[in-house]
Amino acid sequence: MTQYQNRSIVLSKRPQGELQDGDLTLETNPVRELKDGEFLIQVLWLSLDPYMRPRMNDTESYVDPVAIGAVMAGETVGRVIASKTPKYSVGDIVTSYSGWQEYYIANENEAMIYTVQPDGVPLQAFLGVAGMPGRTGYCGLTYVGKPKAGETVVVAAASGPVGTVVGQTAKQLGCRAVGIAGGPEKCRYVVEELGFDDCIDYKQGNLLENLKSACPKGIDVYFENVGGEVTKAVAQLLNKGSRAPICGYVSAYNSEDIGKVETPFHIFGALAEPPEHRFFVVTEWQDQHQELTKLLAEQVRSGQLKYRESVAEGLENAVDAFKGMLKGKNFGKQLVHIAD
Ligand SMILES: NC(=O)c1ccc[n+]([C@@H]2O[C@H](COP(=O)([O-])OP(=O)(O)OC[C@H]3O[C@@H](n4cnc5c(N)ncnc54)[C@H](OP(=O)(O)O)[C@@H]3O)[C@@H](O)[C@H]2O)c1
Repeated sequence: MTQYQNRSIVLSKRPQGELQDGDLTLETNPVRELKDGEFLIQVLWLSLDPYMRPRMNDTESYVDPVAIGAVMAGETVGRVIASKTPKYSVGDIVTSYSGWQEYYIANENEAMIYTVQPDGVPLQAFLGVAGMPGRTGYCGLTYVGKPKAGETVVVAAASGPVGTVVGQTAKQLGCRAVGIAGGPEKCRYVVEELGFDDCIDYKQGNLLENLKSACPKGIDVYFENVGGEVTKAVAQLLNKGSRAPICGYVSAYNSEDIGKVETPFHIFGALAEPPEHRFFVVTEWQDQHQELTKLLAEQVRSGQLKYRESVAEGLENAVDAFKGMLKGKNFGKQLVHIAD
């Protein structure tokens, strides 16, 4: 046994609808000794992402559900603090799918572990706009949305890490970028700080009318993050030949039976002229991981790519932060700070 005690958050019960006390529980266990080929990561930052909620259900999707009793899945950035492999050295900074815990024993052959070269970029940005959500926004927009200069791109959850990258990339490509976000403060930020052309507060009412005025030439690319009422309004304004990359639909993630939810596929499928639409997963472009991480990190470093973060302090506050994120209490990328 090593000198370390590991605190982890474990899926104890499958939530029915919104998370309840006792669904996710905190455990403490000693960290065992490393075997040959292993290394020990001390987690510094944990990323909280909407996809984690569907993974708590007992339903098959493109990834397996988290097993009862298992550490909740998630990506982190951490520091190697012990190593029995020449591949990783003490002091290396890595992103890994360690899950919601403070220490993680990784194997040298494990996939999806990447060494980070921060060069002035804050480490946690590699979980946000320069990480998985950033690559999601970039790839979904450019490869599935295929925007052309002069077109109108709409994205909801616009102040979050995916939406932030979608809108700013759309602007770089010469498009009109219109965000949708919850509340006046987020909308102001999306326009004034992120540089979108407009942002509609979907909580204010009159969504369709407001979207119409923000998109006088209709909508060419709708980057789907949320589903529900937002999608229904957008669907009425889609131009002929429009594209809708379906990234996720967070408004349904707390549903008791996600299989019965009206999804964007139902909404678009019912249109006389549906947009070109498909669900995509960021790992489709896993071969571009390093190249895209570099591109986005450079934009962060230069100040070109702006973003915001909501930080919960300590693993003990992760569950509340996660619950809040699904309701929009986060403002920007939701992180948990675990250690320095
Ligand atoms: N396909 C992939 O590979 C992939 C990868 C990463 C992420 N995603 C998806 O991308 C989407 C955005 O992820 P993110 O990490 O950037 O999340 P995020 O924006 O940090 O957090 C989720 C946001 O969704 C908004 N929201 C919640 N309920 C809503 C509702 N009923 N109607 C409208 N908006 C609602 C809230 O923002 P407001 O306060 O503005 O409402 C909330 O802050 C999610 O659907 C996620 O599952 C997909």
